[in-house]
Amino acid sequence: MTDDSPQVRGILIPACIAALLASFLVGCESAVSTLAPAGQAAADIAWITWVMLGGGALLTILMSALWLHASYHGRVQPLRWSEQRILISGGVLLPLVVIVLLLIYGVRSGQSMLPVGTPDLTVRAIGHQWWWQFEYVGPDGQIVRVANELHLPVNARVDVLVASVDVIHSFWVPALAGKLDAIPGRSHTLRLIPTRTGRLVGQCAEFCGAGHAHMRFEVIVHEAEAFADWLHAAALASSDSGNGVIAP
Ligand code: CUA
Repeated sequence: MTDDSPQVRGILIPACIAALLASFLVGCESAVSTLAPAGQAAADIAWITWVMLGGGALLTILMSALWLHASYHGRVQPLRWSEQRILISGGVLLPLVVIVLLLIYGVRSGQSMLPVGTPDLTVRAIGHQWWWQFEYVGPDGQIVRVANELHLPVNARVDVLVASVDVIHSFWVPALAGKLDAIPGRSHTLRLIPTRTGRLVGQCAEFCGAGHAHMRFEVIVHEAEAFADWLHAAALASSDSGNGVIAP
């Protein structure tokens, strides 16, 4: 048996594919991964990804098996179903059922990401070339401004009002939710519901000039009490600093 015998290749090829897939999945546990969700919308998005991937893989395997079967065996035996019946069931009914199921699931998931009902907290996120400014309402009603650090309480419904002062940016915390464009003169609302405490990473997701790649920000998800303490401290620091913006 030489090294390139069919048996060796039969083991090597699946092993190489598995190693390649594993190398892709290594990145999935990071703080910027959509597949390591730390928020409700991101969890829904990750679940849709896996359902689509699994469904796609299943259909690919099924179609490949049918194609291989047809290539090797041809029309040796007469078909059990008429051609018309195969075309209608495989070409019309099957896609229809799959698409309708995906549509129902997609609409339900999309609905759950909308900013419906009163939020527990509202934060303004303003894109600048090339940094993010976050604005909170402090304990005494004053505006608390923070640069490049988004602090959030865990398990709270947070509405982020996304805006821009110069060009189009895009607000994106992959582990929390989908991305939303920051457009000058407009304010868009993104609902975030962080489900675990810890540090995450956000990134501008729309090319906005030379500093675009560095337009990152940190997201710190606190327990509710720790968040209240942070906001209180930030409000004091904000009123002390001249321009009202706390450097990160
Ligand atoms: Cu801001 Cu890219």
